[in-house]
Amino acid sequence: MKKIAVFTSGGDSPGMNACIRAVVRTAIFHNMEIMGIKHGYDGLINNEFIPLDAMSVANIIQRGGTILKTARSKEFLTLEGRKKALENLIKHNIDGIVAIGGDGTFKGALEFSEICNIPFIGCPGTIDNDLMGTDFTIGYDTAINTVVEAVDKIRDTAESHDRLFFVEVMGRDAGLIALRSGIGVGAESILMPETKTDIEDLIKRLESGRKSKSSKIIIVAEGDEAGGAFTIAEQVKKRLPDYDTRVTILGHIQRGGNPSAMDRVNSSRMGFAAVEALIAGKQGEMVGIVDKKIVYTPFKNAVKHTQCLDKDLLRMLKILSI
Ligand code: F6P
Repeated sequence: MKKIAVFTSGGDSPGMNACIRAVVRTAIFHNMEIMGIKHGYDGLINNEFIPLDAMSVANIIQRGGTILKTARSKEFLTLEGRKKALENLIKHNIDGIVAIGGDGTFKGALEFSEICNIPFIGCPGTIDNDLMGTDFTIGYDTAINTVVEAVDKIRDTAESHDRLFFVEVMGRDAGLIALRSGIGVGAESILMPETKTDIEDLIKRLESGRKSKSSKIIIVAEGDEAGGAFTIAEQVKKRLPDYDTRVTILGHIQRGGNPSAMDRVNSSRMGFAAVEALIAGKQGEMVGIVDKKIVYTPFKNAVKHTQCLDKDLLRMLKILSI
């Protein structure tokens, strides 16, 4: 392994830069050349390769976003696109690749492996935490902290006005951002795609806690099967018209900001482990951290989003959120 490349792909997430830094410096330590590919798979197709050195990743560990930029490539979904990408990798003599991204990134790597035998190792970069084979993905901890900070502010005004707030959080079809941030803010209810949303039950819960509490926060995962925060709020308002109800969609603030200490450390560990995995001859696997230890999961298993919600957390939630 003489020359490797690194790219970020899919939605950016805080900690990607820390991961890039770790990849670059570990490669240099092992006397390898390292190139960055800008804009994910699009850059692979459009030949956006740039040489990186130890100093090109200085002072980025604390920065959100990704210095390599990112994209959700449509062209890579085509065989034509993937062939162009392969030509560029061969042209640059790349012996191995570290791909930092989410399930779209690893599904892309799986497809690519049908025509490309250059080894890929993945690092889980997504705020959604919707990958198997790691307790926390890069950016998840920062995102839930961002949600907690924002909802704490909403709680202040909700409390002053005795209001009911529906706050929608990201996560695509996963409810893991909703679950942890909802516990962190003491939400009265958390609606997630993994658990059945029963509007009647929600109304009952709101009514039973009406007297004891003035503000109420309902966290709604954007992928909830009953709809987004606006849709659910409309249904509840029809049944409980005397509630002073507001809706907040937190949106992309959840993807930005300086990574938390935990994200910086995890990202560094995973970037470091990814390069050492390439040297050890691994390929087609994602690096993760489970119970504080580095583990590797084949892409085909990592992308199976069957991440069950922690049953203990769900049971506790029912008891704590009256
Ligand atoms: O996968 C990360 C994520 O932020 C999801 O939570 C969200 O559904 C999606 O990306 C939004 O994507 P985009 O920035 O392309 O609108």
